[in-house]
Amino acid sequence: MDKNTPLLEVKDIVKRFGGLVAVNRVSMEIYPGEVVGLLGDNGAGKSTLIKVISGVYQPDEGEIYFEGEKVNINNPMDAIKLGIETLYQDLALAENLNVYSNIFLGREKVKSLLGMIPVLDHEYMMEESRTVLSHLGIEIPSLKNRIKNLSGGQRQSVAISRSVYWNAKLLILDEPTAALGVTEQKKVLDLVRTLSSQGVAVIIISHQLYDVFQVAHRLVVLRRGEKVGERLTKETNSDEIVGLMVGAELVEGGR
Ligand SMILES: Nc1ncnc2c1ncn2[C@@H]1O[C@H](COP(=O)(O)OP(=O)(O)OP(=O)(O)O)[C@@H](O)[C@H]1O
Ligand SMILES: [Mg+2]
Repeated sequence: MDKNTPLLEVKDIVKRFGGLVAVNRVSMEIYPGEVVGLLGDNGAGKSTLIKVISGVYQPDEGEIYFEGEKVNINNPMDAIKLGIETLYQDLALAENLNVYSNIFLGREKVKSLLGMIPVLDHEYMMEESRTVLSHLGIEIPSLKNRIKNLSGGQRQSVAISRSVYWNAKLLILDEPTAALGVTEQKKVLDLVRTLSSQGVAVIIISHQLYDVFQVAHRLVVLRRGEKVGERLTKETNSDEIVGLMVGAELVEGGR
């Protein structure tokens, strides 16, 4: 794949719910290592669009290309196999399991005892988890801590680490910082930057414009299901983006 091929490209995606057009002919692309902010007011179609990309919904119209090839993403497993990992606000971590068990959840490493009895390889999973967390600069006191005893930001970090460990090429974050304190928000944003520098593409949805401006290279704005604008972050500002989000006619001085 050459550098000019987008990692992911969606073309003219339409998703309807009964009579409502939640996503209306939206096209966008994202390159390896790029961070794209997906913005829009409540109900603009952001979550619906990413659910199409992550295989939760089937589009009514449109095409998806991954690494230059047309793909059908019929279910979430198809997306994961391609390297598309999506984190929703409910993170799908197992509260009662510890950190490393969550990183290996559903893909546990088994070794055989005395050459015959299968047992979980705790040491391997702990060491591997320690490595991925330290690559990402994440500090968690003990990997034997249960998830339910971690802070929101630490949980978010574990979930992101899990995606990275299993080779995510595209990470989609739907409101990753909404429930976090200021310091923890900052850590998650740092993590997004680290991932980007390691070549992972990230689509981030957030109502916190300031956060998105901090990390995104490019911004895509949806309104009422349609893409109404796309800007390089360094060539725009929050006034212009808010204008696009709400419709210029509502902004003072707009037409
Ligand atoms: N499963 C569904 N069935 C019917 N309508 C839906 C469904 N999911 C979303 N919608 C509608 O589609 C539109 C887009 O919703 P979506 O959740 O994509 O918005 P959003 O941009 O993520 O908003 P928010 O910022 O509030 O999360 C809304 O009008 C919503 O009510
Ligand atoms: Mg949403």
